[in-house]
Amino acid sequence: MKKLSLLLLLSATLISCNNNSMSTNTNDIDRKVDSLLSLMTLEEKVGQMNQYNGFWNVTGPVPEEGDAAKKYDDLRNGRVGSMLNVRGVEEVRKVQQIAVEESRLGIPLIIGFDVIHGYETMSPIPLAEAASWNMDLIKRSAEVAAREAAASGINWTFAPMVDISRDARWGRVMEGAGEDPYLGSLVAAARVKGFQGEDLSSPLTIAACAKHFAAYGFSESGKDYNTVDVGTATLYNTVFPPFKAAKEAGVRTFMNAFNELNGIPATGNAFLQREVLKGEWEFDGFVVSDWGSVNEMIIHGFARDGRDAALKAATAGSDMDMESYHYVNHLAKLVEDGEVEESLIDDAVRRILRVKFELGLFEDPYKYCDAQREKDIIGSEEHHQAVLEMAKHSIVLLKNEGGLLPLKKEGQSLAIIGPLADDKTSPLGSWRIAAEDGTAVSVLEGMTTYEGNTITHRQGVKLTEGSPSFTMETKINTTDRTGIPEAVAAARGKDVVIMVLGEHGFQSGEGRSRTALDLPGLQQELLEAVYEVNKNIVLVLMNGRPLAINWADEHVPAIVEAWHLGSESGNAIAQVLYGDHNPNGKLPMTFPRDVGQVPLYYNHKNTGRPVIPAPDLVFWSHYIDQTNQPLYPFGHGLSYTDFTYEELTVSKDTLKGDEVLNVSLKLTNTGEVTGTETAQLYLRDMVASRTRPVKELKKFTQVTLAPGESQTLTFEIKEEDLAFYTGNNTWQAESGDFTLFAGGSSNTVLEATFYFEK
Ligand code: NOJ
Repeated sequence: MKKLSLLLLLSATLISCNNNSMSTNTNDIDRKVDSLLSLMTLEEKVGQMNQYNGFWNVTGPVPEEGDAAKKYDDLRNGRVGSMLNVRGVEEVRKVQQIAVEESRLGIPLIIGFDVIHGYETMSPIPLAEAASWNMDLIKRSAEVAAREAAASGINWTFAPMVDISRDARWGRVMEGAGEDPYLGSLVAAARVKGFQGEDLSSPLTIAACAKHFAAYGFSESGKDYNTVDVGTATLYNTVFPPFKAAKEAGVRTFMNAFNELNGIPATGNAFLQREVLKGEWEFDGFVVSDWGSVNEMIIHGFARDGRDAALKAATAGSDMDMESYHYVNHLAKLVEDGEVEESLIDDAVRRILRVKFELGLFEDPYKYCDAQREKDIIGSEEHHQAVLEMAKHSIVLLKNEGGLLPLKKEGQSLAIIGPLADDKTSPLGSWRIAAEDGTAVSVLEGMTTYEGNTITHRQGVKLTEGSPSFTMETKINTTDRTGIPEAVAAARGKDVVIMVLGEHGFQSGEGRSRTALDLPGLQQELLEAVYEVNKNIVLVLMNGRPLAINWADEHVPAIVEAWHLGSESGNAIAQVLYGDHNPNGKLPMTFPRDVGQVPLYYNHKNTGRPVIPAPDLVFWSHYIDQTNQPLYPFGHGLSYTDFTYEELTVSKDTLKGDEVLNVSLKLTNTGEVTGTETAQLYLRDMVASRTRPVKELKKFTQVTLAPGESQTLTFEIKEEDLAFYTGNNTWQAESGDFTLFAGGSSNTVLEATFYFEK
């Protein structure tokens, strides 16, 4: 009875604050948080900082013994603030009911889940979405994911991952927006806004989480969870911007990271969490640890034991412990022993409660638990249309020689070959815990919706042995060649062969780093065998990272980068191959020629020896067995039409202080069909107190032009666009010469200069 009356009291007050305007609402929430905090025991406060994984099948009997029973008791005793991996209205309601109706204060749980690129209706993997360079579609995709997750009882996603990644060996490049901090920042903001919407308390939106703070994408040798050593300038110039953009877009939570950064694990890193995030950036949401990362500080050699790990993580600003159990086991005692100040605990709990209030959980803890909404929203036709649109815009046409694409719609004989051609699971990609295997539209299915051509399908080789899963290593087939002769026979004499090759959906993602970037298994052998009998090949790539496909680039006339595109994959690919959607994606990450070139990124420094000084001289920054050039540069992507860039002009030679420099160029569609182009503007600060990259993306715009149509595109450059982390360790622009570059990729075609005077 006592519990219920406390809950009712809180609910009543919250309802009254919800009726007020936004700003008073924030103050009211803070007041409510404080009054709730004053009712809490130390144990209950620490409980809010504890997050458990789903620990029993709540639709079945509650286990009475072991870990699960302890967790159950903790939940009832107010020692749990959040759970992850509980999903579905019925299951979420059951855990929420225990927290709300059986614990002393009845504080609702915040329910987290990895909604990375869709919930059940899957969008393309985030790297693919970034290739669209289309923030409206990216935002819409996150909005759809949030609606489905929220309808399933979830109110917090562990997304977006905003880690910049320059090393394609790292399996988690699929989860981010690629290598560029400017594009990455726009994508981060769009995704946060999509998940959280205008009103966090709506039952259709969920709290977002910018992760992994910080520099997880810079793991040495691309190996997951590995050591990170990067300087402060790289942190500020390259790693932080998307996190800062997420914060500015209103993201309510951050997740720290598994990696150590310059010798200090991110989870116990006070510079990152207290100084930068909560200090400089004034972030007032909360920070959750990564799974077990509080405990992993012991293994890193940074904490002596669980108690020491709890002390170091909490002191450094990690507010919630995901599945290490060290907060719940040690924090209260640490406070009682005077080793952790209670004010630090209060700060963490305030942050957590604030987000719970903002979500409206005190008003109605079951607001995400409407079974009818769950039925109506998840998998709706509207959501499938949204992810289809996203998927079409994520496809990148890498090469198209001799106009092999688009395909003719009638009278053609097609062979569709490859282990991924009829795969209905891989296109879902990694991180799709709520989507069932076999629910994507395969390429074969998409292609057969066009009825004018004949299709012969052969698998050729199997990519994997057995069915890969999220938690287990994927075993690649390297021995079974029995299907190759059949595939070759099917390809012989056909008008066009479409080869669907790449990586299985679980060959990228967490724990999926690779030392090779080629086509895995026997796929290269299959490709070359088919090429022997038919050179009219369209290679459709499905993968979660840049691949080094030199042979294909040299031999195959058309190459389409189709990533892992989600539930509507095959339909999107078919519409692109047939020209019903003219491709306009641009690479968000450089494609290397060889794994030995990585990390490879367009915005590198110049070095003191960037070019060959004289024929045959060896002393310059290069490899003796491979060019420095990538296979496909950042920003690359073709269309079925052609675009010409001309007349890059600046409105003045000198930009002063807070003036605006207008930059314009003329873009013309010189081809024969309507197409959309992403025009890109890069900049170089020629001399600075700290060396600057050879080129940095500063602006881009997307325009659709009819054949023969020209448009003058304008961009604004201001002082803030020139700012960076200077030699004085400050963020500012410096006076001096700048060069602008423009084009349809980072291999730009136009240049102009200006002078900036502070
Ligand atoms: C570990 C991953 O690094 C993180 O991104 C994810 O959100 C958590 N596991 C929870 O699943």
